[in-house]
Amino acid sequence: MLIGLPVRFALVALYVICLSTCLVRAQNQTAATTDPDEARTLNSIFSKWGITAQPEWNISGEVCSGVALSTDATVIDDPAFNPFIKCDCSFDNNNLCHIKELKVFAQSVEGPIPDELWTLTHLTNLNLGQNVLTGSLSRSIENLTRMQWLNLGINALSGEIPKEVGMLTDLRLFAIGANNFSGSLPPDLGNCRRLEQLFIDSSGVRGEIPRTFSSLQNLVTVWASDTELTGRIPDFIGNWSKLATLRFQGNSFEGPIPSAFSNLTSLTELRISDLTNGSSSLEFMKDLKSLTILVLRNNNISDSIPPSIGEFQNLTQLDLSFNNLNGDIPAALFNMSALSHLFLGNNSLSGSLPAQKSSSLRTIDVSFNNLAGTLPSWVHEQNLQV
Ligand SMILES: *[C@@H]1O[C@H](CO)[C@@H](O)[C@H](O)[C@H]1NC(C)=O
Ligand SMILES: *[C@@H]1O[C@H](CO)[C@@H](O)[C@H](O)[C@H]1NC(C)=O
Ligand SMILES: *[C@@H]1O[C@H](CO)[C@@H](O)[C@H](O)[C@H]1NC(C)=O
Ligand SMILES: *[C@@H]1O[C@H](CO)[C@@H](O)[C@H](O)[C@H]1NC(C)=O
Ligand SMILES: *[C@@H]1O[C@H](CO)[C@@H](O)[C@H](O)[C@H]1NC(C)=O
Ligand SMILES: *[C@@H]1O[C@H](CO)[C@@H](O)[C@H](O)[C@H]1NC(C)=O
Ligand SMILES: *[C@@H]1O[C@H](CO)[C@@H](O)[C@H](O)[C@H]1NC(C)=O
Ligand SMILES: *[C@@H]1O[C@H](CO)[C@@H](O)[C@H](O)[C@H]1NC(C)=O
Ligand SMILES: *[C@@H]1O[C@H](CO)[C@@H](O)[C@H](O)[C@H]1NC(C)=O
Ligand SMILES: *[C@@H]1O[C@H](CO)[C@@H](O)[C@H](O)[C@H]1NC(C)=O
Ligand SMILES: *[C@@H]1O[C@H](CO)[C@@H](O)[C@H](O)[C@H]1NC(C)=O
Repeated sequence: MLIGLPVRFALVALYVICLSTCLVRAQNQTAATTDPDEARTLNSIFSKWGITAQPEWNISGEVCSGVALSTDATVIDDPAFNPFIKCDCSFDNNNLCHIKELKVFAQSVEGPIPDELWTLTHLTNLNLGQNVLTGSLSRSIENLTRMQWLNLGINALSGEIPKEVGMLTDLRLFAIGANNFSGSLPPDLGNCRRLEQLFIDSSGVRGEIPRTFSSLQNLVTVWASDTELTGRIPDFIGNWSKLATLRFQGNSFEGPIPSAFSNLTSLTELRISDLTNGSSSLEFMKDLKSLTILVLRNNNISDSIPPSIGEFQNLTQLDLSFNNLNGDIPAALFNMSALSHLFLGNNSLSGSLPAQKSSSLRTIDVSFNNLAGTLPSWVHEQNLQV
């Protein structure tokens, strides 16, 4: 269908005269053939999206061929193969192939996701990221119960996230960031207990984080900034004990930062800002010694900077600006081996700047505080922004 008639004729001719060469292909080919419905569906979707397969696999003939049969689990991530499919040919005594993975990444594909895509029920990995897909996400997504990695990020999808996503209980990655969705997060998503990565930043979803999300205890990475989430930051997030990255900036959350966050000792990156209503302290960060990035801007934090801050030896970036911090700036803060960016502006810090500063610290903002005393000599260092 995607190859013109003359070309097809040439290929047939080629087939007749090159039987021996074709035997080589046959080695990779195995005896198995692609489920004909799936082959038809794939051709139809590619045709609607105006994209073609690469020569490494053959969409017009035997879809599951060539590199689509690769046993290398990481081949889906290889930018050289895009668009791309991978097949599993172990069905029906190694006679039948199903399409297991589909990648159409950053191909400028426009228009809706064709409904027939939701008949590819053997998909475990679907990556449609960075296109211009429009329309809503179909309820029929519920049929793809084998799905583990689902990336729809950076598109123009709209409408509500269907609650049927909660049927995908093997899901590890759910990425819908940078879209035009509306409505709230479906509570059913709490069924996806194996979820490790959740990307909903700038997705358009809004409202409170459902209580059911307390069961998402395998989450490692959560990006949820700039998407109008409301209500208090739930205490149960303190139970997501594997959490390494949390981004909660630019929402409409109310404070305070839950004290239960003190249990999140695997955190390496924590970004919370723009909390309204409520007063927070820094008590929760006591044991979060693995942090490399800590951003707590504009959260109405009324506390002093703990002297133990010097023990956060992996910290590279610390932003506590636009709060009500008081007391002195601990000297240890200017003597940390990894810290390069320090933002303490717009607080009520007092005292003077310490006389010593580590060489790694290159960007410092302490403006709009109640500091006194003379400026230390290091403020004149080159390549330093104060
Ligand atoms: C694609 O598959 C068809 C049918 O199996 C075959 O005739 C054709 O030669 C193949 N084309 C390529 C480019 O491998
Ligand atoms: C067989 O598939 C592998 C990838 O799995 C590919 O590198 C190789 O070129 C293929 N060989 C033939 C003869 O198609
Ligand atoms: C989903 O599965 C149900 C039950 O197997 C079936 O009736 C329905 O047609 C399927 N939907 C799609 C879009 O394939
Ligand atoms: C997003 O969706 C709304 C309707 O929900 C529509 O009015 C708006 O134009 C869309 N924006 C973009 C950038 O697609
Ligand atoms: C955290 O988990 C424990 C044990 O699973 C449970 O007892 C507790 O209620 C949970 N806390 C919250 C705030 O959900
Ligand atoms: C931290 O976790 C422990 C054990 O998992 C639990 O007993 C404790 O209540 C938690 N602390 C907070 C503040 O949630
Ligand atoms: C702040 O809290 C008060 C009382 O709980 C409530 O009436 C008000 O709407 C809240 N304001 C915001 C901006 O959430
Ligand atoms: C900010 O914190 C202060 C001190 O704890 C408190 O009095 C004030 O009500 C808080 N502001 C808001 C908007 O909640
Ligand atoms: C700091 O980083 C090093 C190197 O990545 C790592 O081995 C160490 O465990 C980290 N320290 C903490 C407290 O996480
Ligand atoms: C400091 O932040 C507060 C709110 O957090 C704001 O009202 C005030 O204008 C800011 N001051 C400056 C100098 O930016
Ligand atoms: C700075 O750190 C070094 C080594 O980490 C330590 O020897 C020194 O006493 C510290 N200086 C201050 C002022 O804390």
